[in-house]
Formats: sequence, C-alpha cells, structure tokens
Amino acid sequence: MLKWFFFLKSKIIDTLETLEQLEIHIWNMLTRAKVDRKHPFRIFVLGTITASGIPDARNVILRNVHQSNKTLCIYTDARTPKVNQLLSQPNACLVFYNPKSKEQLRVRATASVLINEQRNLEIWNALPKHAKKDYQSIMAPGTAKEASNIYIDAEDSSNFCLIEFDVLEIDFLELNRKGHRRASFKYGHPSVQATWLVP
Ligand SMILES: Cc1cc2nc3c(=O)[nH]c(=O)nc-3n(C[C@H](O)[C@H](O)[C@H](O)COP(=O)(O)O)c2cc1C
Repeated sequence: MLKWFFFLKSKIIDTLETLEQLEIHIWNMLTRAKVDRKHPFRIFVLGTITASGIPDARNVILRNVHQSNKTLCIYTDARTPKVNQLLSQPNACLVFYNPKSKEQLRVRATASVLINEQRNLEIWNALPKHAKKDYQSIMAPGTAKEASNIYIDAEDSSNFCLIEFDVLEIDFLELNRKGHRRASFKYGHPSVQATWLVP
C-alpha cells in the first residue's frame, strides 16, 4: 500500500514539467500544510539575523498562506527575540522540507510584525484555551527561571503577535535518483520571474 503511495506520488512529481505547473504545485503544498497538521511543510525553519549580524534559526508552525498575495504567516509571542530581530532586520529565510518527496523550499521574504491589530484579536478570540497559553506567560520567553514546571500565566492577548512574510523568492529543489530538479521563482510586482537552475 505504502509502496503504491510513493509510486503515485513520484508519478505526480514527474508530471510537473513546466515552471507554471511547478509553481502551482508549490503553492498547493503550502496551502495544504496550513490545514493538514501532518503535512511536513506545517513546521518549517525560520532564519533571521540578530542585531549583531549573527544568523539565528528556529522551528515554527505555518499558520496562514495567501497564494494571491504571496504571503505566509506565523503566530508568536511579541517578546521573543525573533520579533526584535525582524523589526530591525526584516529579511528572513524560511526553509521547508518534505522527507518523503525530498522536496525543499527555500523562501526569501520580508517580515511584517503585527501586534495589537484587529486581525490579531479576531484570531486570538478563535484560539482554543490551551493554544492561548503559549502567549500568556507573565515572564517573557527565554527568561531564566528556577524550575521547569513553574508556569504563571496572564489573562490577556497583549503578547500575541502575527508575523506576515511577503515572499520575494522561492528556491525549489527536488532530490531525485533520475536527476535532481531546481527552480527559482522571483516575485516582483506584478509578475513572477521563473527559471530552472542547475541543482
Ligand atoms: C515543532 C515546533 C514548533 C514551534 N512553533 C512555534 C511557533 O509557531 N511560533 C513560535 O513563536 N515558536 C514556535 N516554536 C518555538 C521556537 O522554535 C522557539 O523556541 C521560540 O519561538 C523562541 O524563539 P526565539 O528565541 O528565536 O525568538 C516551535 C518549536 C517547535 C519545536
């Protein structure tokens, strides 16, 4: 059964012959990951740059995808270091990998940090109680504490923050025994510049 799944999957990828088909496939995967908790693109590595120019990276969850605007979104606590990093240096790199299909996306983007906006409140109100707790600790994330099991939560939504990434470029790479495949999609306004690349 599993063998057939991978066979069919490889057939689907084999049919992505044009850059247009590949771009649709990429955005379909991202859109799927937004709703499918098991999709490998659901969790990705977000790379940022610190104020002293040192690279930083961490796993985050893909929360929203707008194919028409070419934006991706995550939720975080406004007090986390990544927020300050992105406020002073909005250039970010988002890396997605699917180990089954061996597809990697390296997304270059500029970040907008959204705090205390109407949109935040609407999303906040729809979050389940357990999810809200991730953004409600009285002490800021990363603060030293005496024991791992001390949790003191505030009640409000003031630290809940959205980060929206405006996609500038997607570098797609697929590892394949028959030959690796790589392509770049650069998003200018209004058009996209797409090209195959040497892997
Ligand atoms: C699987 C996984 C998913 C995560 N998702 C998020 C997320 O969506 N948002 C977030 O702020 N942190 C998330 N984290 C925690 C971050 O990786 C990181 O530890 C935290 O945000 C502090 O990051 P910073 O100190 O670089 O700002 C996740 C961690 C793991 C392991």
